[in-house]
Amino acid sequence: MDPAEAAQRSARVAAVFDRVADTYDAVGIPWFGPIAQHLVAEVAAAPGERVLDIGTGRGAALWPLAQAVGASGHVTGLDLATGMIAATRREVAERGMTTVDLVVADAGAPDLPEASFDLAVAALVLFFLPDPPAALRAWLRLLVPGGRLGISTFGSRDAAWEQLDDVFTPFLPPQLLDARTSGTRGPFASDTGVEELLGAAGFSDIRTTHLEQTVTFADPEHWRTWSWSHGQRTHWEAVPQEHRGAVLAAAAERLEAARDGAGAFTLAQDVRLTVGFRRVQQCPAPQHLEPD
Ligand SMILES: C[S@@+](CC[C@H](N)C(=O)[O-])C[C@H]1O[C@@H](n2cnc3c(N)ncnc32)[C@H](O)[C@@H]1O
Repeated sequence: MDPAEAAQRSARVAAVFDRVADTYDAVGIPWFGPIAQHLVAEVAAAPGERVLDIGTGRGAALWPLAQAVGASGHVTGLDLATGMIAATRREVAERGMTTVDLVVADAGAPDLPEASFDLAVAALVLFFLPDPPAALRAWLRLLVPGGRLGISTFGSRDAAWEQLDDVFTPFLPPQLLDARTSGTRGPFASDTGVEELLGAAGFSDIRTTHLEQTVTFADPEHWRTWSWSHGQRTHWEAVPQEHRGAVLAAAAERLEAARDGAGAFTLAQDVRLTVGFRRVQQCPAPQHLEPD
């Protein structure tokens, strides 16, 4: 993909997140928060560390990172969506946080000093980028030797969720059917695929863990509100207004497969947490100088 096309693609993604900035993670459904908290625990952010939160969004990882690094540490949140950064900046001020700063920048090529972070985190971001290998190489350079990167990506969803999301499929243009975000093929389809991406970028000691994140809706309208509140809004927007009622009705039917014992609807998603390290440079072998 040429740089102009990549920039256009990133701008399109950022524009979606600008549109959802006010509702993102704010409709009473724990989803991004728990996933980010697991990632922060997985990378074991520690007091005093300098951290970069790539694609910080509304701060799902930023808040627990700031708490973990404490008053002696620092967290920089980076995002291309100005609306996300503006809303998160307001929240940082409301919370009176002084160890956090926020920048509008493209995660694909962040203009930040080399070796300036102990830890970088990208929660549910890498698969949005036009060139994930190039982004990973750029992120590696931002880490100090021995520094680590933690990313979360989606694994498989349960069958009911697959069926549910298929209600959008007939309306989606090819770029929204991109398998990289669905995780059904390509590097984001398996632990090995993601680990190989990190390995090819130069990360070492790569490991993967998983969590199963569930989400519960009281009724189909609750699901509609949630799916409209985040990146999936692009799917709704692809459905012509006059077909949206039928899509919701089809979704309600499919949600029946997810009805739980309490009469609500529970869906489950496997989330992959991958961690890799920037190699500590090998010290050159000591030279044995012969005395004169
Ligand atoms: C699914 S959200 C995740 C946000 C947050 N990390 C979380 O866990 O809730 C993806 C975020 O990545 C950001 N993003 C997408 N493409 C980007 C790019 N090229 N540069 C920087 N941020 C980008 C979006 O604006 C959005 O805030």
